[in-house]
Amino acid sequence: MKLAKRMDRILIETAFEVLVRARALEAQGRNIVHLEIGEPDFETPKHIVDAAKRALDEGWTHYGPTQGYPELREAVAASVSRSRGVPIDPNNVCIVPGGKPILFFPMLALIEPGDEVIYPNPGFPIYESMVRFLEGVPVPVPLVESRGFSFDLDVLRSKLSDKTKLLILNSPQNPTGGVIPADDIAAIADMVRDRDLMILSDEIYSRIYYGEPPASIASLPGMLEKTILLDGFSKIYAMTGWRMGYGIMPHWLADAVNKLMVNSNSCTASFTQRAGIAALNGPQDEPETMVAEFRKRRDAFCAGLNDLPGFRCPLPEGAFYAFPNITGTGLSSKELADRLLTEAGVACLSGTSFGQYGEGYLRFSYANSLPNLMEAVDRIRKFLANR
Ligand SMILES: Cc1ncc(COP(=O)(O)O)c(C=O)c1O
Repeated sequence: MKLAKRMDRILIETAFEVLVRARALEAQGRNIVHLEIGEPDFETPKHIVDAAKRALDEGWTHYGPTQGYPELREAVAASVSRSRGVPIDPNNVCIVPGGKPILFFPMLALIEPGDEVIYPNPGFPIYESMVRFLEGVPVPVPLVESRGFSFDLDVLRSKLSDKTKLLILNSPQNPTGGVIPADDIAAIADMVRDRDLMILSDEIYSRIYYGEPPASIASLPGMLEKTILLDGFSKIYAMTGWRMGYGIMPHWLADAVNKLMVNSNSCTASFTQRAGIAALNGPQDEPETMVAEFRKRRDAFCAGLNDLPGFRCPLPEGAFYAFPNITGTGLSSKELADRLLTEAGVACLSGTSFGQYGEGYLRFSYANSLPNLMEAVDRIRKFLANR
C-alpha cells in the first residue's frame, strides 16, 4: 500500500529525532546534557494539577463544546484583552489541543495551491511543513542577527505580492529568542493593512521575555480582524503534555476551525479545560518565578557560550533559546551539532533544522538546570580544544 502523495510534502521536527538519538546513546551508558527539546523543565503549578484532579472527580470526563467551554473562552478573552490592550470577544476564541492546531487548522482552512505564505527563516519548522503539505508556495524571509533576529523590513516588503495569502510572525521567536521591536510590528502592520491577506501571529512565548513586553500586531488599529493570534498553556504554565492552546481569530475563520475540530478531535479534553481556567484565573507567581529563573540561566549560559572560541551569542530577548553564531569554529552547523552529541555528550540542534538561513548557528534550549548548562559549556570547550 502506498501513502498518499501529500505525505511526501510534510516535514517533521528535528528536535524529536535528536532526542531519540540522545536516548539511544544514554542506553549505551553515555551521559548526555539535553539542550535540544523546547519545553520548560518545571512542573505544572500544583493548583493547576489539583484543579484537573478535582475536575476528574466532579465528572468533567465527557465531550464538551467543540470551540471550548464558555468559561475558559471568557478567561482567555479577559487575559488576552489585558495583555494585548484590545477587546477580545470570547466568541472569537477557539480552544484546541495545543498551540500547533492553530497552525494546522487555520492554514488548512485558508491555503489553496499556489497561495504564497511568508514566514521567518530560521523559524519553527511546522510553518514550512504546513505550507508544503497544502501545496502553498513557501516564501521564507531571513532573520537578521544584527537586528536581534528580526526581519529586514525592506526584504519583507519585497516579498509581499498579490498572491500572499498569509504572513506568519513569531515573537518571541523560536529558535533565535528574538523579539520583534514594537516599531517593526507597527511598520509591518502599515505594510499589510490594506492588503487582502491574513497574519498568523504565533505568540506562544508571549509571557517569556526579558525586556519590554513583546508587541502584538493584533493590538494595532484595524489588525485584529486580519490576525490569527496563537497562544496557549504549554510554555508559560509548563503544560506541554496537557495539549491545550488557543487561537483568536475572526468569526468566519473560527467557524471553519470549529468544522475541522469536529472532523478531528471533537473537542479539547474537558477536565484539561477546567485546569486551564485555574491557570488563567489563579495565582501567577510560579510562571513569574520560572521566567526569572530563565533570565538567570540565559545570562550565565550566553556568557559561557560567548567565551568559547568561534562562538558569538547575542543575548536573546525572549523564549528560552540561545542561538549562537558558530561560523568562527569553521564547522557547518550540522557537523558541529552531530559531533557535540556524539563526541561531547551535548544534545542541541543545528540552525538548519529551522531552515536554510539557520546555517552558521546552533540552537540550545536553556530549559535545563544551571549546573547542567555550565557542564554543557565545559564539554563544548573541551571538544573545541581537542578536535
Ligand atoms: C514557535 C512555536 N509555536 C508553536 C508551538 C507549539 O506549541 P504546543 O506545544 O502548544 O503545540 C511551539 C512549540 O515548540 C513553538 O515553538
